[in-house]
Order: sequence, then structure tokens, then C-alpha cells
Amino acid sequence: MKNLFTLANIILIVIAGLMASCVTEKASEPMTLKDAYTNYFLIGVAINQRQIDDQDQRGDTIIKSQFNSISPENALKWDSVHPQSDRYDFTEADRYIEFGEKNHMTIVGHTLVWHAQTSRWVFQDQDGKPVTRDVLLARMRDHIHTVVGRYKGRIKIWDVVNEALNQNGTLRQSPWEKIIGPDYIEKAFQYAHEADPDAILRYNDYSLEDEPKRSAAVALMKKLLAEGVPVTAIGLQEHVQLKWPTVEREDATIAAFAELGLKVMITEMDVNVLGGLRTAEISEMAHQGGSNIYTNGLPPAVQQELAQRYADLFGVFLRHHDAVSLVTLWGVTDGDSWLNMRGRVNYPLLFDRAGNPKPAFTAVVQSSK
Ligand code: GLA
Repeated sequence: MKNLFTLANIILIVIAGLMASCVTEKASEPMTLKDAYTNYFLIGVAINQRQIDDQDQRGDTIIKSQFNSISPENALKWDSVHPQSDRYDFTEADRYIEFGEKNHMTIVGHTLVWHAQTSRWVFQDQDGKPVTRDVLLARMRDHIHTVVGRYKGRIKIWDVVNEALNQNGTLRQSPWEKIIGPDYIEKAFQYAHEADPDAILRYNDYSLEDEPKRSAAVALMKKLLAEGVPVTAIGLQEHVQLKWPTVEREDATIAAFAELGLKVMITEMDVNVLGGLRTAEISEMAHQGGSNIYTNGLPPAVQQELAQRYADLFGVFLRHHDAVSLVTLWGVTDGDSWLNMRGRVNYPLLFDRAGNPKPAFTAVVQSSK
């Protein structure tokens, strides 16, 4: 009897000990990005092919633990899913969707109508001559209906038109604009809405913090909304720098779009610590993406500046959390970033090349409190 009592006591002590250790472990675990912002907005990340294909265990662990939304870096761009006029290829895109669904994430579609990463055949006839407006509209409609239709109800947010504006606020003379005319924008939104009436449809662009591009985008959104075009969100790409844009400008930009009743989403955030041209044009960035001055690591003072920069910008997003529903980082670790183009060593994200959280990560989590 006495032995039995002792045994029961021992078991109780062991269980209590185990429970206590679980509690301490939980309390000492660093908070994740998605948990830190759970009451405010979703935290997304752009994922690349290796991550979609389960070939980057370290990256996948970070994606699954830290983020609750994903965007495809390339998997849904026109030339990935529709490389030839009579051929769609959904291999990678299907895997991207499965990844998101398996991990219960909000899945973003990026991007339907853009001037880049869109195969040349789209705009040409068999002789290499520009197609007519009607032919291009039919191609656009077929593409949007096929792609959006395939993932109807599964992709909740679509970038319908990407980067239609120039820095001076005029409409970009893209092949879309030149062949169809300015109404290609409303047509794209109409087709996307027909294909999935429940999807959130975004206009997505960079440097919208700058005048006159900002006023032009506000005017364009106002016009589309007044005409009943089904645009429901604005995507601020947020390819920013340490000193640009100012916090005040970011604040005013979000406010200007929120006032129109649009959802505001930060869609491609990274902070280029090397400076250079303020653009997301990959061709221009290649030449002017800043000088490669930190090849041996980021100096601690700049690391701190970067952390403060992230804290300041997340502070702005947080102030506007009624309008801001999603903040997406454009890549998982520094090593994954497009900003390393042409041998540059850049440090734009929240996890370093070894997958460790940077001071900027801690600053972002702290900012939520
Ligand atoms: C734009 C596009 C993204 C990505 C970046 C960097 O912002 O929307 O898909 O390609 O440029 O190249």
C-alpha cells in the first residue's frame, strides 16, 4: 500500500514537472510575426519555386511558423502559366496553391495584367505584327478567365493590374495600353470579377508614396470606383529604402487610399539598404540598384537603422489597421531577395542568410505591442 502511494506521488510530481517545463518553454518562445499582428492584419510572404517544391526546408519552416498568407514570386506570372498561346502550364501554380491550403494560409494571386514577364506572343500575330484591340482583349479575357477560374474560391486576393502608371503620373505606354487603350484596366477588372465574383481585386504599384504618382493613382481609383469597376483594394508594393519614403508620406498615402473605401495592402515589402534608384523595374534596378558596399556584412549601426526603419513603418501600418488588412514581405531570407541582383549583397528582409531572425524581426514584433 505504502509503495503504491509513493509511486502515485512520483507520477504526480513527474507530471507537474512536465507541465511546468512546457509552460516555461512556451513563455520563453519568441513570438511569431503572425501571432504578434493577429488582431490587426495578416502577415504574408512571397515564396519562390524551391520553397513551393519543398526543396528549402529552412525557408519552409520559417514560412509555416511566421506567416499566414503567401504570394507567389513568379509561379502565377503570365509567362509561367501561359508560355504559349495554345498552352497553359499550371504545374508550379497548382503546387503553390496546395502549399497554401495545406498550411491554412490566405493565398494571393500575382499577377494578371502586367507589362513585364509577359511573353511577347501575347501582343503579336503570326507575322510578329501587333495584334488588334479586339484580339488582345480576347486573349486577356481568356487568360484571366482560365487562370482566375481555375482557382476560384481558393485564391482570395488577385493582383489584377500591375504597375500601370509612370512616375510622372501618366499611364504607362505598355503594349496593353498602346493596343487596347486606357480602358484595358477596367476590362481586366471586369474579367477577373466575372471569373471569381468573391475575390478581392487589387491594383498594385510601386512608389505610390511619391507625387505626382500618388495623385494619379488616387484619381485613377476614384474614376474606376465611380464607373462601378470592381476594384476593391490597392497594393502598395513598398519596395522602400532606409530614408525613403518618410513616415509622414507613408501615413498620408495609406490615408488617401483608405479614404476612397479601398482595402489597403502592403504587397511586396523590402528595404533596400544599398539605396539606388527608387523603382521596382527590374531592368532599371539591375543598373542602378545601389552600390555593393556591404559585401562583408551589414555594419551594426546600419543593422540598427534597418530595425528602426521596419519598426517605424509597421507603426504606420498599425495606426491604419482599420484599412490595412495584409502586409506581405517580398521574400523569406535576405539570400532570397531579388535585391541581390547582379552580385549585390543586400539585407532587405527580416531573416538573415542563415535563416536567423534579425534585429529588424524583433523590432517588428515589438512594434505590435
Ligand atoms: C515588381 C513585381 C514583382 C517582382 C518585383 C521585383 O514589383 O510586382 O512580382 O517581380 O517587381 O522584380
